[in-house]
Amino acid sequence: MQLSKKMLKISPSSTVILAQKARQLKAEGKDIIELGEGEPDFNTPEFIIRYAYQSAKNGATKYTSVSGTPELKNKITEKLRKENNINYNENQIVVGAGAKQLIFNALFCSINMGDEVIIPSPYWVSYPEMVKIADGIPIILNCDLQNNFKISLEKLVEVINSKTKWLILNSPGNPSGAVYTWNELLELSKVLINYPQINILCDDIYEKIVFDGKKFHTLAEVAPNLIDRILTVNGFSKSYAMTGWRIGYAAGHPKLIEAMIKLQGQSTTNASTIGQEAAIAALGADQKFLNDWLKVYTNRRDIVSNSLGNSFKNSFNNPEGAFYHFISCQALVGKKINGINTIRNDRDFCQFLLEKYGVAVVPGSEFGTAGYFRLCFAKSEDDLKNACQRINDFLKLLN
Ligand SMILES: Cc1ncc(COP(=O)(O)O)c(C=O)c1O
Repeated sequence: MQLSKKMLKISPSSTVILAQKARQLKAEGKDIIELGEGEPDFNTPEFIIRYAYQSAKNGATKYTSVSGTPELKNKITEKLRKENNINYNENQIVVGAGAKQLIFNALFCSINMGDEVIIPSPYWVSYPEMVKIADGIPIILNCDLQNNFKISLEKLVEVINSKTKWLILNSPGNPSGAVYTWNELLELSKVLINYPQINILCDDIYEKIVFDGKKFHTLAEVAPNLIDRILTVNGFSKSYAMTGWRIGYAAGHPKLIEAMIKLQGQSTTNASTIGQEAAIAALGADQKFLNDWLKVYTNRRDIVSNSLGNSFKNSFNNPEGAFYHFISCQALVGKKINGINTIRNDRDFCQFLLEKYGVAVVPGSEFGTAGYFRLCFAKSEDDLKNACQRINDFLKLLN
């Protein structure tokens, strides 16, 4: 079978491959601490599982309308109004199989051959590949550690042109951990208002994981004057530890949402009915339990920041949100391990760390920023302490 030309353009998901490698080593009996995959280690709360189970028993096992059940869409519009101060009607909402499907569908529905999509790096691995599948051109906008991996407006203006179709904004950021403030979003909106051809895809999937009392804001809230050009994407995977239920949603201009529903209707139909019921339970609940989780995440973040702070001085920022450290290992490039193998780049660093010390992390190159590695701290305290100890031991071998 000859595969399509399209498939030759795209790479497999690197984080999934690395996770598989770590799993394989584990299956071979190796002592592996997996800090590669970005997934909360909490179980989905019991009350959500019970609600979904009861709903399934009551018949929620059939197709729903493609865009989601009226009850869930109603809960989503209510959430966006109350928590984010954005007014969307139900015809502006589509529920899908995770934020991933919705981002894919939005790009697929809107990009014509050669359209450009600005993706600030470091970026979530799937954005550029999705753009390529849709026949678009990813334009990578490098962001610096010194600027907390946030967009420089000067650099942004330099890459905008008449073919620019989208800017992707992900705050809290994976893997950067950066959270845009109200003022930063406002300043950004003042630039974007001058370029009516640009749409903005706000990937808010880590909304609930923001540390140190900082407040989450999304562009549609800060810049209602841009609302027709914004697609707000969110979901339940990270916030509610519901990765496997595969429920996300997008809110935006009715024309785009209608197209996304049409595409979904001819590809996957509705998101899992039981998953949608679980999402209703998540949104309907007292959200206080999320504060308890946030305390746990904060503690875990601090364990890693404190344990690696000395070894990687000025090489990372304390994450403001999400659950990743993004750490420069550039200073280690060129060093030898026990005087033998040379670390040539971030991939080597991660490979040696996995093979010699059993810690799985992801090279920054996968996120468009070479010379770094990403460590996910949504893991147990013991695992994090052990992993940091192993990383520090590994560094002692280098000369
Ligand atoms: C930035 C970002 N967006 C979207 C997703 C996909 O989320 P979902 O599980 O809802 O498809 C992820 C998952 O890793 C992510 O990190």
